[in-house]
Amino acid sequence: MRRRNAIKLAAGAFIGGGACVTAMTTAFKTEAQAATPPKKIDFKESKTVWQYHKLNPKKVAKIAYEGYDVGSCMFGVFESIMAELGEQYGEPYASFPSQMMKYGHSGVGGSGTICGTLNGAGAIIGLFVEDKKIQDALMGELFYWYENTEFPIYKPAKPVMDFTPPTSVAHSILCHASTTLWGKASGFRIKSKERKERCRCLTADVAKKTAVLLNKYINNEFVANEHDNETVRGCMTCHGEEGKLGNTAGKMTCTSCHTPSAAHKVFGDAHYKFMDKK
Ligand code: HEC
Ligand code: HEC
Repeated sequence: MRRRNAIKLAAGAFIGGGACVTAMTTAFKTEAQAATPPKKIDFKESKTVWQYHKLNPKKVAKIAYEGYDVGSCMFGVFESIMAELGEQYGEPYASFPSQMMKYGHSGVGGSGTICGTLNGAGAIIGLFVEDKKIQDALMGELFYWYENTEFPIYKPAKPVMDFTPPTSVAHSILCHASTTLWGKASGFRIKSKERKERCRCLTADVAKKTAVLLNKYINNEFVANEHDNETVRGCMTCHGEEGKLGNTAGKMTCTSCHTPSAAHKVFGDAHYKFMDKK
């Protein structure tokens, strides 16, 4: 029998037996993982020729907005920072082949996976920050902000179209969820010019946030404090590597795809309490 059916059947028997389910779940309540406290991330100079320099986030946002029409979202974010560094510092930035970042449009080649803006930000962070843990901290901060913020925020001085996009919260880092939820909130179709304008502004928002984070980091002022996702932490208590189940890795918000089943909600704690570590 598949495990998911086992838990549902067990829950059925349990409820059928007339036990006081609420009292039981409370009694067996698993203590959630502790919150991750804010953490100061010390600046470590990159040993490569790829050095980030402090940039004006507003200028970066404008270049990203305009760059969207050249190569879409991932390119827009990446190129906004690279072009501005090239403008101010010349080489090696000026000859970086940013066109390679066009691949990330619409969630990588149109597939709807990770939002291209975040992929572009990750690539920029990866180029200028060597340490993987620091890369993760910067991306964690950015991704959590993306999942929870009402977008778009950017108001172009010279808009490509005369339209102020309504806002929505993506609850996910995926292009698919982000664009679809915006479509539901605004009533516009996915192929519409309005949706493009929304993503154009979003590209500016993410580019700006990325520049702000990198500016803080190289000024040795970056404190990672937006990466503590309470929902994820709750789920990972049992499903994460330290939980007994240890069957899930990831930081993206779980509930954008999973609605914990009723059986799971009612019976999960008690079942978990008595189960062996897998
Ligand atoms: C108290 C521990 C605990 C917590 C917290 C928890 N789970 Fe589970 N979850 C379980 C157990 C136990 C099972 C049954 C797995 C088994 O027996 O192999 C399960 C099964 C699942 C399954 C597969 C079966 C089903 O019922 O759908 C999914 C998906 C899942 N959990 C997602 C989540 C998500 C998402 C969260 C956070 C919102 C979460 N879980 C929080 C203990 C927990
Ligand atoms: C983008 C959608 C998506 C997100 C976000 C997501 N999952 Fe899943 N998850 C899936 C898919 C698809 C499967 C495999 C199909 C299935 O088992 O239903 C799966 C499987 C699982 C299973 C195994 C269920 C089983 O039957 O054994 C668990 C547990 C689980 N996810 C927990 C989580 C947790 C915890 C998070 C948050 C950190 C999370 N998921 C985030 C889509 C997602």
